[in-house]
Amino acid sequence: MSDTHPWWERGVVYQIYPRSFQDSDGDGIGDLPGIERRLDHVAALGVDAIWLSPIFPSPMKDFGYDVADYCGIAPIFGDLAAFDRLCAAVHARGLRLILDFVPNHSSDQHPWFQDSRSSRDHPRRDWYIWRDAAPDGGPPNNWISDFGGSAWEWDAATGQYYLHAFLKEQPDLNWRNPGLRAAMMDVLRFWFDRGVDGFRIDVLWHIVKDEGFPDNPLNPAWTPDRTERDRVLQLHSTDQPEAHAISADFRALADAYGDRVLIGEIFLPNDRHARWYGTLERPQVHLPFNFQLIENGWDARILHRLIADYQASLPPHGWPNWVIGSHDAPRIAARVGEAQARVAAVLLLTLRGTPTFYQGDELAIGEVPIPPDRVCDPQDLRQPGLGIGRDRSRTPMPWDASPYAGFSTVEPWLPLNPDWPTRNVAAQDRDPASMLSLVRRLLALRRAHEALSVGAMTLLDGDGDVLAYERRVGSERLLVALNLGSVAATFPVPADAELGEVLLSTHPAHGADGKLAADEALIVLLKGKHR
Ligand code: NOJ
Ligand code: MG
Repeated sequence: MSDTHPWWERGVVYQIYPRSFQDSDGDGIGDLPGIERRLDHVAALGVDAIWLSPIFPSPMKDFGYDVADYCGIAPIFGDLAAFDRLCAAVHARGLRLILDFVPNHSSDQHPWFQDSRSSRDHPRRDWYIWRDAAPDGGPPNNWISDFGGSAWEWDAATGQYYLHAFLKEQPDLNWRNPGLRAAMMDVLRFWFDRGVDGFRIDVLWHIVKDEGFPDNPLNPAWTPDRTERDRVLQLHSTDQPEAHAISADFRALADAYGDRVLIGEIFLPNDRHARWYGTLERPQVHLPFNFQLIENGWDARILHRLIADYQASLPPHGWPNWVIGSHDAPRIAARVGEAQARVAAVLLLTLRGTPTFYQGDELAIGEVPIPPDRVCDPQDLRQPGLGIGRDRSRTPMPWDASPYAGFSTVEPWLPLNPDWPTRNVAAQDRDPASMLSLVRRLLALRRAHEALSVGAMTLLDGDGDVLAYERRVGSERLLVALNLGSVAATFPVPADAELGEVLLSTHPAHGADGKLAADEALIVLLKGKHR
């Protein structure tokens, strides 16, 4: 293999939601020793890196995305010694460890915010974003929190409003303040020095706001069935030019440590999204998360177009990436059904670009009903009835058929998937036709055929429900053909090639008939045509 591609270009990232991976101390909540105990599963899958959602001390109002100490470990998850053990165990398996960095906001319980709200004169007052009331006493502008309601909270003690893009318990930090900036760079150093291989950066495009705090424009497309956030376009509250310099500073620091990766959470249209790569001279994040597979319909023609547009939008030095599931998005198998979830796994793991694979999707966990009295997600609790709950994607990993699915010895914090007695890791491990076996085969194939990770990609013109593309490196050529429909279909083959060996099919007994069965995805070797 050529070594011109760094590990994060070739590799696959596996997202672990720590509360829901494995409980080790019988409190119904996953923890770091639990993750360590289950590393064999991660290694056997064949991924390259683990990204952990936040593990830091937190009141857990937003399940860890409200950080009260950036350099500690929440006691429910363990302590720094447990973290060091986990980090060493991950590295011992040849895997990398990526943490979640939450720079836009802290918890209101963070000592910095306690200082900031203590008085208008405190040196840390300006580490957060404080503004006077509007002349009528109301909030300074019309900005809306992502979780609904005004993005401003009144502080009676000091007579000003503070900004919070999410919960009022998540005050936004002021990245225009040099002291705050320096303190946050020290946070990155703290974890890099401890050996972490990178960060996923939470809502990176949010971190700087327009200095004049003008009203956001109203969204003409808003309808009452949409979230309150969408009433306005976040034109002035996100994606400000000054944020790119900070993103470049993060990158410079990461590069000084060598071989680390920064993944930015960014929801923007292609042209604005691509800017987060920075320039070759002053690069920014390695991978601005690409959520288009989550945000668009499961339709071959839509996918064909979005893949082409996304590829075309990348700067020459920009490496692509793909996400299909996360702790925020509905489960892929709930969206498209189990048969198509297999097709989706083939797509995610064979597109050109670094895939992020979400825990539990290797079992094709589908819809998990959450009884009303067990809803935990603040976004859902604040805006009920919109069907935007995130708990259903955060349910515990079902490991086996023992009580509580081997996740815990007590009732877990969220319910298990209802079919856990049969849909669990142990059951699927024994079944060569399972989703788990398919994902393992896919990842092994990706490792064995360089074309699938770093090869060039050419989209082919398929019809109807068929999406097809070629991956190629040197003389190795592979065809990926996906049937997103429920009737058999033909698939296109490049004019200068003919079909060779079928390397993988989502269907157990695929015949070499040059066709796709209903809901089938295929990976086939291509041979150059002999004249
Ligand atoms: C994005 C995270 O993925 C989500 O879970 C969280 O609620 C928000 N950012 C706020 O931190
Ligand atoms: Mg626990």
